[in-house]
Amino acid sequence: MDIKLGGIRALVCGASQGIGRAAARTLAEQGASVTLTARNEQALAEVCGDLAGGEGQQHDWFAADFDQPEALECLIRERVADQGPFQILVNNSGGPPGGPAHTAERDAYTTAFQRHLICNQILLQALLPGMRESGYGRIINIISTSVKEPIPGLGVSNTVRGAVASWAKTIAHELAPDGITVNNVLPGFTRTDRLKKLFEGKAEKTGKDFAQVEAEALTQVPMGRFGEAEEVAAAIGFLASPAAAYITGHSIPVDGGRTRSI
Ligand SMILES: NC(=O)c1ccc[n+]([C@@H]2O[C@H](COP(=O)([O-])OP(=O)(O)OC[C@H]3O[C@@H](n4cnc5c(N)ncnc54)[C@H](OP(=O)(O)O)[C@@H]3O)[C@@H](O)[C@H]2O)c1
Repeated sequence: MDIKLGGIRALVCGASQGIGRAAARTLAEQGASVTLTARNEQALAEVCGDLAGGEGQQHDWFAADFDQPEALECLIRERVADQGPFQILVNNSGGPPGGPAHTAERDAYTTAFQRHLICNQILLQALLPGMRESGYGRIINIISTSVKEPIPGLGVSNTVRGAVASWAKTIAHELAPDGITVNNVLPGFTRTDRLKKLFEGKAEKTGKDFAQVEAEALTQVPMGRFGEAEEVAAAIGFLASPAAAYITGHSIPVDGGRTRSI
């Protein structure tokens, strides 16, 4: 099976920690040259410095705040103009805060749509010409199992995730004639800062202790454990590879069996 990515350049977003960092490491291990982005410069530099590298691989990073889409657009367009095309795009950013949908501030929806859907579109449009020129393109969106089963207490997130999944399905169809694939990876409960913060928020709100919140969450997972960021990254690495050339337009949960729908 061909999962090697020699000569391929990948842009990995939200790469300073968690699932994005694990994805960057996996793609580098497969041989890609990886550009990381997120806001935390120190973390980006550290992750970048630790990436696996063989002959011809060059990794770098740039800081960008996805809550400032216009600035992101300038940064990515300059980068493509200076350094040439990327063949892999991993769309990923910080999840919206928890809370019900009906009480959420309108601004929370605007921020979430900007950070996820609008930034995905900006990056797609900046990278697509290079993917076409290269004859290789993989767009992988890190979303959530909530696109299959909305998660109670994550109202804004559920809403924007659904929009991203519909966007992805649509562009998968549009770009299939170019051989460019577009897929979504849906993490279940994955041990990262995001999960810790969500559980801390739930503990505070319900008056339960953190361990109890964790234990209750685990009852939803048939495998009886949380996932690791590296397990989500393995799916990303596969979808990014030549071996996954005929898979497009799909949403793949990596969730220990938690999603009950087919
Ligand atoms: N972990 C889970 O259980 C789980 C489950 C389902 C879905 N997800 C979703 O999967 C995605 C990744 O999850 P994760 O657990 O890896 O999250 P995480 O640990 O919170 O990491 C989020 C990443 O996004 C970056 N980021 C956050 N806000 C940003 C902004 N405004 N501009 C640019 N970068 C930003 C962060 O870096 P900086 O702070 O340096 O910017 C970080 O690198 C999230 O959307 C999350 O909601 C996670």
